[in-house]
Amino acid sequence: MNMPIFIVAGLLVHCVFLISIFDIYFTSPLVHGMTPHQTTLPPPARRLVLFVADGLRADSLYELDNNGTSMAPYLRNVITSKGSWGVSHTRVPTESRPGHVALIAGFYEDVSAVARGWKENPVEFDSLFNESKYTWSWGSPDILPMFAKGASGDHVYTHCYKAGSEDFGAEDATVLDTWVFDHVKDFFSSARNNETLFSKLHEQKIVFFLHLLGIDTNGHAHRPHSSEYKGNIRKVDEGVKEIVSLVEDFYGNDGDTVFVLTSDHGMTDWGSHGAGHPSETLTPLVAWGAGIQSPQQVSSQQFEDSFLKEWKLETWKRQDVNQ
Ligand SMILES: *[C@@H]1O[C@H](CO)[C@@H](O)[C@H](O)[C@H]1NC(C)=O
Ligand SMILES: *[C@@H]1O[C@H](CO)[C@@H](O)[C@H](O)[C@H]1NC(C)=O
Ligand SMILES: *[C@@H]1O[C@H](CO)[C@@H](O)[C@H](O)[C@H]1NC(C)=O
Ligand SMILES: [Zn+2]
Repeated sequence: MNMPIFIVAGLLVHCVFLISIFDIYFTSPLVHGMTPHQTTLPPPARRLVLFVADGLRADSLYELDNNGTSMAPYLRNVITSKGSWGVSHTRVPTESRPGHVALIAGFYEDVSAVARGWKENPVEFDSLFNESKYTWSWGSPDILPMFAKGASGDHVYTHCYKAGSEDFGAEDATVLDTWVFDHVKDFFSSARNNETLFSKLHEQKIVFFLHLLGIDTNGHAHRPHSSEYKGNIRKVDEGVKEIVSLVEDFYGNDGDTVFVLTSDHGMTDWGSHGAGHPSETLTPLVAWGAGIQSPQQVSSQQFEDSFLKEWKLETWKRQDVNQ
């Protein structure tokens, strides 16, 4: 057998296989052009406030410290007095973009995005934000624009801090979250003196999205067991409490607002994420308000993990979901 021809043929076969892998696996699973359907049932809520605490682990939110106190007393109180809670199971890759796509667009990230470094939308996709009447969002310039881009018309509004200014949180990343909370507060106070905005805010199908990157940034810099990470959770808990009271107040406690807090992915003890360790794939989910079941007490519930006991939440019905 002729050796050079053999080598060339071998190389060619490998190339074909390599290309075919991209062709077979990294193509979009999304189907376009289907007829949209709407439900005729009345909606349980007129508006949604969605908090995504980027990089927040389920156990970091739910666990108690040595003194038996919670890092997030407000959310803990929500779980036991007015809402539903559980663990949202994410998938690999546990990164911000696919996590947010799953949360807001309802599908696992288009694998064809791999070839484009996850930055661009490889194919157009529909999202909750696009289907809303109006969405206002605050947070990181790495996340918000991707949902505004896919939206048709002018109804998804983004308020980002400047790209690269994640550095302004280099000392203490909680400022990324206080930036968001402060801007939401300013927004609602300006709406009181702005008739156009005021009436927009009273439409149906309104979404407010607060993307909170501080916890993720603090986790990368200081790891999840640090006082910085935990202190940031406390800050987020306080911020959520303030925003909830502000929103309820703005709408005159009409009981038509639903609140959801979750995260896009968790984080390992070493401050990384991307893979499939439970610390990365288990994220918290707390929901309360219009249309949400109030807390249910149960005498026993079965889960494979032992978290319920650790978190002292055995008696509160836990409802897990796939992100
Ligand atoms: C637990 O309580 C003790 C005494 O009140 C206090 O000194 C300590 O800082 C507390 N620890 C935590 C983690 O809050
Ligand atoms: C966004 O919503 C509009 C109106 O419902 C729809 O026509 C459009 O196809 C949606 N965009 C995408 C990318 O699906
Ligand atoms: C009122 O709100 C609208 C819509 O958000 C905005 O375009 C306009 O600039 C605001 N007007 C004032 C006076 O701030
Ligand atoms: Zn993230």
